[in-house]
Amino acid sequence: MKFIKIKTMIPGPKSRKLMAERKKNVSNGIPASTPIFIKSGNGALIHDVDGNTFIDFSGGIGATNIGHSNSKVVGVVKNQAEKFFHSCFQVVGYEAYIQLAKKLNRITPGKFAKKTALFNSGAEAVENAVKIARKFTGRGAIISFEEGFHGRTLLALGLTGKVTPYKLGFGPFPSEIYKLHYPDLYRKPHEMDEEQYTDFLLDDLENDFFKAVVDPKNVAALVMELVTGEGGFLIPPKRYVLELKKICKENGILFIADEVQTGFGRTGKIFASEHFGIEPDLICMAKSLSNGLPLSAVTGRKEIMDCVQEGGIGGTFVGNPLSCVSALETIKFIEKRKLWIRAREIGNIVMERFEKLKEDTNVVGDARGLGAMCSLEIVKDKVTREPDKEKTKKIVKKCYENGLVILSAGLFGNCIRTLMPLVIKDEELKGGLSVLEKIVKEEDEKK
Ligand SMILES: Cc1ncc(COP(=O)(O)O)c(C=O)c1O
Repeated sequence: MKFIKIKTMIPGPKSRKLMAERKKNVSNGIPASTPIFIKSGNGALIHDVDGNTFIDFSGGIGATNIGHSNSKVVGVVKNQAEKFFHSCFQVVGYEAYIQLAKKLNRITPGKFAKKTALFNSGAEAVENAVKIARKFTGRGAIISFEEGFHGRTLLALGLTGKVTPYKLGFGPFPSEIYKLHYPDLYRKPHEMDEEQYTDFLLDDLENDFFKAVVDPKNVAALVMELVTGEGGFLIPPKRYVLELKKICKENGILFIADEVQTGFGRTGKIFASEHFGIEPDLICMAKSLSNGLPLSAVTGRKEIMDCVQEGGIGGTFVGNPLSCVSALETIKFIEKRKLWIRAREIGNIVMERFEKLKEDTNVVGDARGLGAMCSLEIVKDKVTREPDKEKTKKIVKKCYENGLVILSAGLFGNCIRTLMPLVIKDEELKGGLSVLEKIVKEEDEKK
């Protein structure tokens, strides 16, 4: 393989030593998807401390859409670091924050007047969007999805579905959060086609959920990922999303799009909301917004964003200047290269290979994707669709042992997802896919 260079057993001796130190000093609660320690990265390649080179299909969980060590970003961050690191925007302001707010107000869906507030993490953006929605509507309840993921702080966890490992032992969670089932076209009842399933879900919302679970007049906002991230890259039917948006509007419920994982070109548009033709009232962004530096944002309708009393939102580090200049340069790069179009090309290459894998093997139950956000579901049986978490884990492990860093996902932990930097070269992409294909086929033969 041209790009992958494996010189030691994986993990190599230096990584093993660091892992032993990590085990002694870092909380066991922090997960380790791989036992590899990075020395440097460039584009879609990761070089580890033992001199091995991996193709990266994880992008630090989708946070490096324009690639590791992008020279333009490195340049502006270095330049900013030499001037000042921190003044706290709330104390002594700086221009980069304002420029970034202006940019996000312009590029997010919706022609209406918008405003932006910056934060540190995806979870923080979602929590603040909920605070703003509650203040604006004067209502308390929030709707989210069982298959959704919105972060690890307590309110974000309350909005999140998956219990293990995220929520186990951390309750009680904030009240007034009500969950819908996220449309899952693979696991829908066999007898229903997509249209019938969409009708069924919408009917359930109006005639059961709003009657027996929560009164829509008490609901401040609905929080939705347009493609689930940790939930295994479920893609909802367009009509479902459009109807949901309409129902929200009719009932005075704000639509909050969590575009933390889907944003900045990943799905083949700058924002996934654009695929569905919706203009969310509030959009949460993070991850590839600043290509790896901690930063998040909430952008939304001006009157909503302005309803909060001065001092009601903010924080010491929010909109850090290093992150702001990185974000401005990242967005410039994405726009200049039209990286969302590259995401579609990547998606086409990936999906062609994934569809073939689904056809050729018994372990791949489903292959789905929107742009470069593609996923395989690993199952024990194609008819029962029983998830195979253990096999998924094995595939992920064998992948990194063979030079491909890739992540699992899904409520059942049985999805393999692609979050490669969108600057990945065709040969790197195809090389990484060949590793994955070979391993999935080997696992298939072991059935
Ligand atoms: C859709 C979505 N929302 C929120 C979050 C939380 O972001 P963070 O880990 O930056 O708090 C994530 C993280 O994976 C995510 O995928």
